[in-house]
Amino acid sequence: MSSTLTVRSAVPAVKAASSVDMTTSLGRFELPNPVLTASGCAGAGQELAQFFDVAALGAIVTKSIMMNARSGRATPRMAETPSGMLNSIGLQGPGLEVFLERDLPWLVERGARAVVSIAGGSVDEFTKLAMRLREVRGISMIEANISCPNVEDRGQVFACDPRSAAEVVQAVRRAVRSEVPVFAKLSPDVTDIVAIARSCVAAGADGLSMTNTLLGIVIDTDTMRPVLAGVTGGLSGPAIRPVALRCVWQVHAAMPEVPILGMGGIRTGLDALQFILAGASAVSIGTEIFHDPMSPVRILAELEDALAARGFAGVADAVGLAHGERPPAGEFPIDAAHHHGQLLTPDDNPV
Ligand SMILES: Cc1cc2nc3c(=O)[nH]c(=O)nc-3n(C[C@H](O)[C@H](O)[C@H](O)COP(=O)(O)O)c2cc1C
Repeated sequence: MSSTLTVRSAVPAVKAASSVDMTTSLGRFELPNPVLTASGCAGAGQELAQFFDVAALGAIVTKSIMMNARSGRATPRMAETPSGMLNSIGLQGPGLEVFLERDLPWLVERGARAVVSIAGGSVDEFTKLAMRLREVRGISMIEANISCPNVEDRGQVFACDPRSAAEVVQAVRRAVRSEVPVFAKLSPDVTDIVAIARSCVAAGADGLSMTNTLLGIVIDTDTMRPVLAGVTGGLSGPAIRPVALRCVWQVHAAMPEVPILGMGGIRTGLDALQFILAGASAVSIGTEIFHDPMSPVRILAELEDALAARGFAGVADAVGLAHGERPPAGEFPIDAAHHHGQLLTPDDNPV
C-alpha cells in the first residue's frame, strides 16, 4: 500500500509535501492549510507545542478572551456522553491584557497564525475588546464568539437572536482594522441558522464559524440531580457532527460566496472532508484534541491523502462540491489503494 500517512507516530513532524495544494483562505486571511484548532480546546497553543509545531497548522484559534480575568463556572463542569462530552467550563481565562502580554507574543514568535476569539456579556464589552485589539499586530483573524449570554437582554444568547447577533458583529467589524477578517461564531441551537447567518453577514461579518456546542443536560441517576454544577452544558464531539455539518450545508447553499470555518465532532480527515464538501473553506478541531493531542496534524495528513486519492489538485476545488450534481454510480475517482477504512484504520498504517 502506498499510503503516505506518517504522522500517527509520536514524532512531531508533518508529512512531506504532496501534490495537493492545501492552501486556502478565510476572507482576506490566507492559510497554508485548512486545519485549525477550535476555540477553548487548545488554550492559546502552548499545551500543543510538546506534541507538534503549532506553526504547522492553518492557525491556532485561542480560547475566547474576555476583558477581565474569570474563573469560569463551578465544578463539576465536564460530563461524558455517548460519542461526545458536555462542558460548562464558562469563559475561564486570564483576561485580555494577560493574553496580549503572554499568549499572543508566544504564538507570533513561533510563526503560528493566531485567530483571536473574543467574547463579551454586552455589545459594549465586545466593542471595548475589539477597540483594544485594533492596535495589536500579529492577529490574523478575529472570531467573535456570540454564543454567550447577553447580560443586557435577560441572558438571551446573542447568536440566538438575529438582531443581537448583528449588533455585536457590526460593533466588532467597525472597531477592528479592515485588513483583519471578522468571523461570527454561530450556535446550532436555533430554528433557522440561515436567518442568523444572513443577519451577521449583512452586519459586516467576513465569514462564519459553525458551529459552537449544542445545549444539553445529563442527570446522575444516583443523586437524581444534574451532573453539572451549572445544570446545562455544551455538547461537543462526534455526537453533534451531523447537526454542525447540516448548518454548514444550509448556509453555504444560501450564501455560497461567504467563507465558512466548519467544526463539530471532526475526528478524521474524512470527517474534515465532509465539512469541506458541504462548503467550509477550513475546519477546526476541538474535542478530538482531548483524546489525541496530535489529532490536528494527523487530520491534516489524512485530509491531504483523501484529497489526493480523489484526484483533487487543491483543497479549494473541493469546497462546496457536495452541492453539485451526484456523479453516476461507479464514477468516483478514488484510488483503490486509498479506499475508505484503509486511510483511517491504525492497523492499516504501514509506519
Ligand atoms: C471544553 C470546551 C471549551 C470550549 N470553549 C470555547 C470557547 O471558549 N469559545 C468558543 O467559541 N467555543 C468554545 N468551545 C466550542 C468549540 O470551539 C467547538 O465549537 C465545539 O466544541 C464543536 O467542535 P468539536 O465537536 O470538535 O469540539 C469549547 C468546547 C469545549 C469542548
